[in-house]
Amino acid sequence: MYWKPELYRIENADSIFSPGLLIFRDLVEKNLAEMIRIAGGADRLRPHCKTHKTREITEIALRLGITRHKCATIAEAEMLADAGVRDILIAYQLVGPNLQRVVQLAQKYPDVEFSALADHPRAVTELSRAIQESGDSTISIDLWVDLNSGMNRTGISIGPRAIELVEMIFSSDVLNIGGLHWYDGQNRQCDLIERTGIVNAGWDQLIRFRDQLLLSGLPVPRIVAAGTGSFPILADHGEPNLELSPGTTVFHDDDMATRFPEMQFQPALAILTRVISCNRANELTLDVGHKACAADQPAGRRLAFPELSSVTELMHSEEHLVIKTPDASQFKIGDHLIAIPRHACPVSAVYQFADVIVDGRAVDRWGIAGRDRMITI
Ligand SMILES: Cc1ncc(COP(=O)(O)O)c(C=O)c1O
Repeated sequence: MYWKPELYRIENADSIFSPGLLIFRDLVEKNLAEMIRIAGGADRLRPHCKTHKTREITEIALRLGITRHKCATIAEAEMLADAGVRDILIAYQLVGPNLQRVVQLAQKYPDVEFSALADHPRAVTELSRAIQESGDSTISIDLWVDLNSGMNRTGISIGPRAIELVEMIFSSDVLNIGGLHWYDGQNRQCDLIERTGIVNAGWDQLIRFRDQLLLSGLPVPRIVAAGTGSFPILADHGEPNLELSPGTTVFHDDDMATRFPEMQFQPALAILTRVISCNRANELTLDVGHKACAADQPAGRRLAFPELSSVTELMHSEEHLVIKTPDASQFKIGDHLIAIPRHACPVSAVYQFADVIVDGRAVDRWGIAGRDRMITI
């Protein structure tokens, strides 16, 4: 198994509410160091903060030299700016009131470079209009052209329309061209050789397109690409203007750890849960219902328990999880267990704060600031 149960022992667990979110600070620091090692330098990373959403982890990343960050929401962007980041990519196409909100962000943090994604001319027109209508000539926002890497979520296909989009941003009076955005989060194949082949096939397509743009005299200052599954593969290309944007690796989780056994990250986010009922043989009822752990994963596969030899999730309701385990007789009501989320990113969003564990002791509490839909803007 990927986990080492001794890493998750807590001496003063009695002080922690359950269900409660835990951040193991030393493991976060190790994961960030491993991201830097794989990327080949802190300046080659633009991690996505959607996983941790905290000012404190952003500050640790800044101290390690990771100065560029990525986020998905205006609130996450504000959290990053508050923590001191000066180069923030909102990896989202801005529409509706978010157009005005990004203008307000740029006004509130004039020394921060904000950028966003576009995969359609309309997004370019509307953001230009929002900036012009603000009447503030100091606002400058970069747009990255979001390319469809085959994930079919967002992004414009490589081809003539994508070239026109780059031209449109390049010729804009109020916007700058950031470069190309390529998120290939669909590349999660367990087999590393298979994954490497697929990731590199996408990369070849991307680089051919970049070179075509350059040959036509269009600028491509940077490329931002990759998630957890692909960033070690793309890092090996040594492309100078590439920024790698994994996110989950900051915390890592049970899904990534079992899917990518070759990676040396260790889950750094967990939930402390307690036994609240145990009247049936080989069964425990825990206080980690699906409101306390995010239910995007299929029922039966939402949590892993490093301290238990085997577990079957029998029932998951709003406030309860019933598990079957041969180790049940070792537990009584009130005992706690550590649960590693199958998918870390939506779990951090469920909690207002996390207890921070250092050297086996809860020593601090960090607010999950970026979970809010709005901070001030
Ligand atoms: C646009 C974008 N970039 C980067 C990431 C980070 O990827 P991963 O979670 O695989 O590390 C995500 C994750 O959803 C994403 O949506």
